[in-house]
Amino acid sequence: MRLKGKSALITGSARGIGRAFAEAYAHEGATVAIADINLEAAEATAKAIGPAAHAVKLDVTDQPSIEAAVKAVETRSGGLDILINNAALFDLAPIVEISRASYDRLFCVNVAGTLFMLQAAARSMIARGKGGRIINMASQAGRRGEALVAVYCATKAAVISLTQSAGLDLIKHRINVNAIAPGVVDGEHWDHVDSLFAKYENRPKGEKKKLVGESVPYGRMGRPEDLTGMAVFLASDEAEYIVAQTYNVDGGQWMS
Ligand SMILES: NC(=O)c1ccc[n+]([C@@H]2O[C@H](COP(=O)([O-])OP(=O)(O)OC[C@H]3O[C@@H](n4cnc5c(N)ncnc54)[C@H](O)[C@@H]3O)[C@@H](O)[C@H]2O)c1
Repeated sequence: MRLKGKSALITGSARGIGRAFAEAYAHEGATVAIADINLEAAEATAKAIGPAAHAVKLDVTDQPSIEAAVKAVETRSGGLDILINNAALFDLAPIVEISRASYDRLFCVNVAGTLFMLQAAARSMIARGKGGRIINMASQAGRRGEALVAVYCATKAAVISLTQSAGLDLIKHRINVNAIAPGVVDGEHWDHVDSLFAKYENRPKGEKKKLVGESVPYGRMGRPEDLTGMAVFLASDEAEYIVAQTYNVDGGQWMS
């Protein structure tokens, strides 16, 4: 058990990649707060994982909600050791059709949500004096722009940059900040992405998913479980000297 006795908070972990992280952390001995805007789904996920998991209502765009979620974990587990900043939204549109509402929504959740969750976790970890680990979910979309995906790509580039700045600032408190950049990971998120591509590229539903899966050198889309090894490693003692990095876990897609 590589995370025995650790306390983790994972944003957006009611489903998808965050849920797989929560399952893996519980398996490695951590207690996990399933912190999601969808409390009902978070409760169902926590129940399925078992006593190591508990649901926390969290909206990463709302400062009191962020502070209450961190407080809830402190009260329940005696402190916070690990934060995974996983909650994010996706949207897609040609440059000439991007709406300010979509821009504001994505930057509010993906960037401000990441920064202010990270800040609240860091304040808690610094006050406790035991260091900690913060893992941000970036994306290959943060490494380069895409014609139809300007806003999401920009938010994930910002996550990579925040990881570097926060990593450099917080390591003096023995808080390691790093990020994971997945490629394409199947699930409800990508069902939504596929339907947007179907609309803007005039494709039948499911075609974009099939094409991106085939384009991955490994030979298929990622699955949430493909990312859990990196998430456990970055939270473990073995990653003590790793600071401000963003790791691709993408079946080779970024290199291709
Ligand atoms: N799926 C992919 O292909 C892929 C690729 C690269 C990066 N990522 C990143 O990985 C992370 C997880 O992706 P996923 O596919 O599991 O996404 P998902 O859409 O399946 O899950 C996101 C979760 O975040 C929650 N959420 C949304 N807004 C919230 C808010 N304001 N406060 C709290 N929770 C909120 C949702 O309720 C949901 O449970 C995201 O950061 C995403 O950008 C995903």
